[in-house]
Amino acid sequence: MELDKAIKERKSVREYLTKRIPEEKLMEVLDAARYAPKAGNLQNFYFIVVKSKKRKEDISECCKNQSWMKNAPIHIVVCNKVKDIKRLYSEQGELFSIQNAAAAMENILLKATELGLGTCWVGALDFVKIQRILKLPDDVRVEAIITLGYPKKIPRTSRKYDLDKIVYFEEWDKKK
Ligand SMILES: Cc1cc2nc3c(=O)[nH]c(=O)nc-3n(C[C@H](O)[C@H](O)[C@H](O)COP(=O)(O)O)c2cc1C
Repeated sequence: MELDKAIKERKSVREYLTKRIPEEKLMEVLDAARYAPKAGNLQNFYFIVVKSKKRKEDISECCKNQSWMKNAPIHIVVCNKVKDIKRLYSEQGELFSIQNAAAAMENILLKATELGLGTCWVGALDFVKIQRILKLPDDVRVEAIITLGYPKKIPRTSRKYDLDKIVYFEEWDKKK
C-alpha cells in the first residue's frame, strides 16, 4: 500500500470482528515501531500484548469504562521507561520519552492500516491501575493503549482542518 493511502485510510476503529489476527501480522505491526525516530536513539518504549478476555475487560474499565475496547482482539499497551532518557536529557527527557513513544505508535497505526487491520489510540486511562494489572515495575509507565483487530466497518473520515488554517510561513499567523 502506498504510504499516502495508509496515512489517509487510517481511522480510529472502535468496532471489531472476532477474526483472529495471525501472529506474523501482529509481529509485523510491532516491528514497525522499531523504525521510528528516537531522541538519542534511546529506545524507551515497550509493548505488552494483551489477548486474554479478563485482562482486556479490566483494562477497558481502567480506560474510563470504554466498553467497546473489550471487543478488540488485541490491546497493545505502550509502556515508557523514562529513566534512561531523563538521565541523558534531564528535564527535556520526560517530553522526549513521550515523543519517542508517540512516534513509535504512529508507525504501528500506519503499518496496521497497510495490513488491513484497524486500530484506535486510547489515551484516556488510569495509569496506576493499569500498572498494577500488568505488574509493571515502578519505573515503567503506561503511555497509551492501541486496540487492534479487523474492522467491523470502516469509520467515517474525521473532520480535518484545511491546511491553510494550520500552516504559517516564517512567523505565527503569517500567510503567504
Ligand atoms: C493522545 C490521543 C488520545 C486518544 N484517546 C482516545 C480515547 O481514550 N478513546 C478513543 O476512543 N479515542 C481516542 N483517541 C482517538 C481520537 O479520538 C481520534 O484520533 C480523533 O477523533 C480523530 O479521528 P481519527 O483517528 O479517526 O482520524 C485518542 C487519540 C490520541 C492521539
